[in-house]
Amino acid sequence: MQTKKINIFDTTLRDGEQVPGCKLNTKEKIQLALALEDLGVDIIEAGFPISSPGDFASVEEISKVIKNATVCGLSRAVEKDINAAGEALKYAKRPRIHTGIGTSDSHIKSKFNATREEILQRAVQAVKWAKNWVDDVEFYAEDAGRTENGFLAKVIEAVIAAGATVVNIPDTTGYCLPHQYGEKIAYLVNNVPNIDKATISCHCHNDLGLATANSIAGVINGAGQIECTINGLGERAGNTSLEEVVMVMKQHAYLGFYTNIKTEKLNPLSRLVSDTMRMPVQPNKAIVGANAFAHSSGIHQDGFLKDNSTYEIIRPEDVGADGSKIVLTARSGRSALAHRFQKIGYSFNRNDIDVLYQQFLDVADKKKEVKDEDLHELAKAYQPEAVS
Ligand code: KIV
Ligand code: ZN
Repeated sequence: MQTKKINIFDTTLRDGEQVPGCKLNTKEKIQLALALEDLGVDIIEAGFPISSPGDFASVEEISKVIKNATVCGLSRAVEKDINAAGEALKYAKRPRIHTGIGTSDSHIKSKFNATREEILQRAVQAVKWAKNWVDDVEFYAEDAGRTENGFLAKVIEAVIAAGATVVNIPDTTGYCLPHQYGEKIAYLVNNVPNIDKATISCHCHNDLGLATANSIAGVINGAGQIECTINGLGERAGNTSLEEVVMVMKQHAYLGFYTNIKTEKLNPLSRLVSDTMRMPVQPNKAIVGANAFAHSSGIHQDGFLKDNSTYEIIRPEDVGADGSKIVLTARSGRSALAHRFQKIGYSFNRNDIDVLYQQFLDVADKKKEVKDEDLHELAKAYQPEAVS
């Protein structure tokens, strides 16, 4: 089986921080950058240095403290942006400038009032300019998801010839279906003659809930880097969720991809990002949501109690989650009730449980969740001498 390392490019501090209300100060950004390095990400996109003096300072300070990961700064395809990124990255051990321009006809016309040929020239000039600052230059073709493949291939060939080491193919608007995004990457692999001189990167937004699926389609078709964020934070409906793509590749190891992410650090870092950015994680979020390992219906609870793997494909400890939870609700069954009674110190036989189960349902129908206190009440009323 082939094994290919997929680089994890984390953009929580740049695309993630663009979320309204998620703004971070330099101290917070440094704390998260160190935690991301500890998690094992390969590249940390630390910010957009031209955007504000505060963001410039954050990129500069992060560059000083990060030892192993590449530190990346974003810029438009504009000399003054690139200069700011180059300056901010001057202390980085492994600096990368991420520069680019919109390549879809919609961006070319509405944003730039330009022609395809002019955009191609600006892309090449930006990469060449960035090469004056750093060796490692990543080019993004903004809105590549809606860019015609022939023109996209022309741009990518030209920027690689100009020195781009990574070529980012963003589905900026989250428009593509997985097979379309995968075909786009395959098209570049098959039609850009110098493509093996650069790493192809996926940067997928989640407007249709397809960011994770599209990124995985990208690596299956030849990409070597995924851009993503903790908790899937990012513009509008968000970016690709780091924890999801990493666990997809781990759970489907037969695909032949691996990352350097220490997956047992995923849940603690998810909480740190959520607290620092003041952005709650939805309870049903894959991998890091409060309910990711919670079982509530009787059928599921019964199967899970017989063998965890009947309803869990990931062990909670492998992603640093607190553990599996059996939540008692009106949908729960006798086996979950008996299990919980036992856990809190009561040993009831089958007949006892039959009787208690009816009383439990009366309580459960009035509440969202039956708690241990409720069970103690039931147990006391039923069998006051129960061992507790
Ligand atoms: O979504 C996007 O296209 C971006 C680029 C700046 C890489 O965030
Ligand atoms: Zn983006």
